[in-house]
Amino acid sequence: MKKVITYGTYDLFHQGHYNLLKRAKELGDYLIVGVTTEHFDEARGKVNVVDSIMKRIENVRSTGFADEIIVEDHQGQKIEDIQKYHVDIFTVGSDWVGTFDYLNQFCQVIYLDRTPNVSSTQIRKNNFKIVDIGIVGTGRIVPRFISEAKYVSGINICCTYNPELDSAAAFANRHDIENFSGDYDEFLERVDAVYIASPNETHYDYTKRALEAGKHVLAEKPIAFTKEESEGLYNYAMTHGLVLMEAVKTAYCPGFQQLLNVAKSGVIGEIKDVEACFTRLAAIDSRERTDADFGGSFLEFGSYTLLPAMKLLGTDFTDVNFKTIYGEDGVDLYTKVELTYPNAMATSKNGVAIKSEGNLVIAGTEGYILAPSPWWLTKRFEVRFEDENKVEFYEPPFQGDGFRYEISEFVLKINGGEKNAYKLTAKEAIAMADITERYMEHRAQNI
Ligand code: CTP
Repeated sequence: MKKVITYGTYDLFHQGHYNLLKRAKELGDYLIVGVTTEHFDEARGKVNVVDSIMKRIENVRSTGFADEIIVEDHQGQKIEDIQKYHVDIFTVGSDWVGTFDYLNQFCQVIYLDRTPNVSSTQIRKNNFKIVDIGIVGTGRIVPRFISEAKYVSGINICCTYNPELDSAAAFANRHDIENFSGDYDEFLERVDAVYIASPNETHYDYTKRALEAGKHVLAEKPIAFTKEESEGLYNYAMTHGLVLMEAVKTAYCPGFQQLLNVAKSGVIGEIKDVEACFTRLAAIDSRERTDADFGGSFLEFGSYTLLPAMKLLGTDFTDVNFKTIYGEDGVDLYTKVELTYPNAMATSKNGVAIKSEGNLVIAGTEGYILAPSPWWLTKRFEVRFEDENKVEFYEPPFQGDGFRYEISEFVLKINGGEKNAYKLTAKEAIAMADITERYMEHRAQNI
């Protein structure tokens, strides 16, 4: 009996998939089809898969060609499967020519002609209008956003804005972006949505004007320096059916979602203390270390280090306390924030000129979770207990530098309306703006 194996995502099942499976079956007597898990797809950078694995498996099954369906969830599994199932032929579509030649040492490899003019990516594009996105600002973070956006389908970076037209032009040219503008209103007319990555003090104004022009907004943190401003923006977005997301990328990383779920599962008992630290020694002449008004450690990292407390202990803290070490020119070099809750506490530590261990520790009545640096991308974490021999290790999937998850969420929200809860809710974002406002007051008093 000749055994054939093939693999795919089979998202939004289409004629190309059907033809491929039919021809794969015709190559032998017994066809095994491997369907990828969501985690494996994410790990490969496919973050916009629409159908669940159950639905994708069901669609493959209903063709009647598969004698056996298996799940593919890790790199290297193809070799394992070929040996385990005694496979004679491995086959995939011609878009993969060359990629799987290494399997020739285990079985025959056949690339079948791909059906022209159909793909899941194309159907996703047709089902969901491509979001034309404009970028405000041309700073260091923007090239990272652009390269990560390539992994998210349904998005087209079409325009860049900088009040200095020459900078906008040079940036658009360097990054192959079609249009550029030095006039914000004109820029807004060209786009469906904006990503705002301009200096901190301009986020609020750009966000407000974009929302008022009916555009969805993904804005770098902090969106606003006061609770009232933040509330105003989120209320406006909500009442006008617009997506407003603060770019705290940790909130969207799959590993952070998993960490929250583990923490909330009760495995460490009741959560009593959340301690998060994020420090990076910024260049001596950088904005972070020279701008006493809008640079400094809290405004740089506070959104990250407060996030775990907001997610796990909530927004009803009863007291907030700040301690800051200032540079000679009044720049916030290191800030420690202490939050008091009725039955718990939290600490956030931030540094741009003082280096510390970048840990996240969540302490509970039965044990604790330790996520080492870079916990803000949550590549791994451990659950530990009094008995030091009892440790649970987690290594969630993580690709790129974390941006793609945030961008993918932004596009999903724009396409899917209110279906899913926001991963960073308006309530949490407003509470963080409230803390930012108190921080600004603390700083004004101490300088
Ligand atoms: N396939 C094909 N003809 C097409 C599309 C896909 O023969 N027009 C084949 C692929 O080569 C692969 C299998 O179908 O062997 C599963 O492909 P999958 O990656 O799930 O589908 P795509 O439509 O290529 O998905 P995407 O656009 O997300 O890459």
